[in-house]
Amino acid sequence: MVLNRLHLKVQKHLEPFRLSLEKLQDVSARLRKDMIRGLGKHSHHRASVKMLPTFVRATPDGTEKGDFLALDLGGTNFRVLHVRVLEEEQRVLKMDSQICAIPQDIMLGTGEKKRLPTASTSLLMSSLCAQSILIRWTKGFNCSGVEGEDVVNLLKEAIHRRGDYDISSVAMVNDTVGTMMSCGYRDQSCEIGMIIGTGTNACYMEEMKNVKRVEGEDGRMCINTEWGGFGDDGCLKDVLTEFDEEVDKTSINPGVHTFEKMISGMYLGEIVRLVLLKLTEEKLLFRGCPSEALLTPGSFETRFISEIEEPDSGLENAKKILTKLDLDWDLVDACVARLVCDTVSSRSARLCAAALATIVNRIRINRGLDHLKTTVGVDGTVYRKHPNFSDELQAAVRLLAPKCDVTFLISEDGSGKGAAMVTAVAQRLALQSRLLEDSDGEDEEEEEEEKCDANI
Ligand code: GLC
Repeated sequence: MVLNRLHLKVQKHLEPFRLSLEKLQDVSARLRKDMIRGLGKHSHHRASVKMLPTFVRATPDGTEKGDFLALDLGGTNFRVLHVRVLEEEQRVLKMDSQICAIPQDIMLGTGEKKRLPTASTSLLMSSLCAQSILIRWTKGFNCSGVEGEDVVNLLKEAIHRRGDYDISSVAMVNDTVGTMMSCGYRDQSCEIGMIIGTGTNACYMEEMKNVKRVEGEDGRMCINTEWGGFGDDGCLKDVLTEFDEEVDKTSINPGVHTFEKMISGMYLGEIVRLVLLKLTEEKLLFRGCPSEALLTPGSFETRFISEIEEPDSGLENAKKILTKLDLDWDLVDACVARLVCDTVSSRSARLCAAALATIVNRIRINRGLDHLKTTVGVDGTVYRKHPNFSDELQAAVRLLAPKCDVTFLISEDGSGKGAAMVTAVAQRLALQSRLLEDSDGEDEEEEEEEKCDANI
């Protein structure tokens, strides 16, 4: 009886996190509007979903080849890979790779310090290899002198300063694009890339005729949606909880990346901490006594959520984590903590599903299909590590996009291989168009010769 009453009171605080199917459909409809605004020639300036053209015009067809160096700057790690693409065996080989954690002073220092800048953040590009301007840092990065700069150029200069490399073309790709491209090599129906890790974002192949800010009507182009910014214009006010507002206020970028802050690994742990704290204040947890640790921002790591939700060892893990946080817990507290984690991670998965459903529904309608079969390349620690995130996401996508059959493919080796694939595909397209020009030239010459022959 006492337990039931407690349960009801806890549920009342968790209610705002539970989003009905109708609500998710509504969120999806709002995102659809914002995506259209982002694609518009005149409206994109005021769009919170940036819909950045990536100038990637095709996914791999399996005939790409060559040697590539890929630099992958993620939320926590910086990876350098030497990648070899083999045409004969249709394989992408990682020849060599190095991975290092990014120290705080580099994340917040000057751009100059970071010798080889950026990948998984908002980039506005003018063409694949010519120019890409860093719009803003995300995920805890804040290096001075880089925002608004052309990072392809900065990278070329940094490579030049080293003096020991000679690199012919430098392409800057977002991690979602890298993920789509690396999965696209394994499964040619992969036309969407999605990241649910420290940050969240997705890219997909859009019809050129809808990409109003880039000349040309034919074919498709990959669009980096930057869906993390969805809601920055206030359109998700009714979905946000008091905890989301607090997370935003205390973040290094208040008012920015509203959608991401409800979904990604950088924030989920903090949301859970704030809920646990609130329940403690309401005397629904830990006999009303928070510990120093629980009062400290960032102390509840996102990985704790995955550990606590493990189907078999979850409760034991919860007990260990609560002990580590110096809390005076009992069994009911451990169960409530588990419920909080489950509620916060479920909302994240369902919001992600709403956004992904918007994309697959759009692709289906773009192509005038009754039914779409497509593959999403996915990466990110939340998707990979959480015990039931992927199941919840997939179940919700099925409900929100009933006419789409969506397969999920986890990317191997992060987006580095995909970055190499972007260059490989661009080289293939360039070669194909050169061959086409040459053969056009040959045709013209032959025609001229024929005319000459006729004159004789
Ligand atoms: C952030 C970045 C975005 C990236 C995503 C996933 O939202 O702005 O560019 O793709 O994180 O890493």
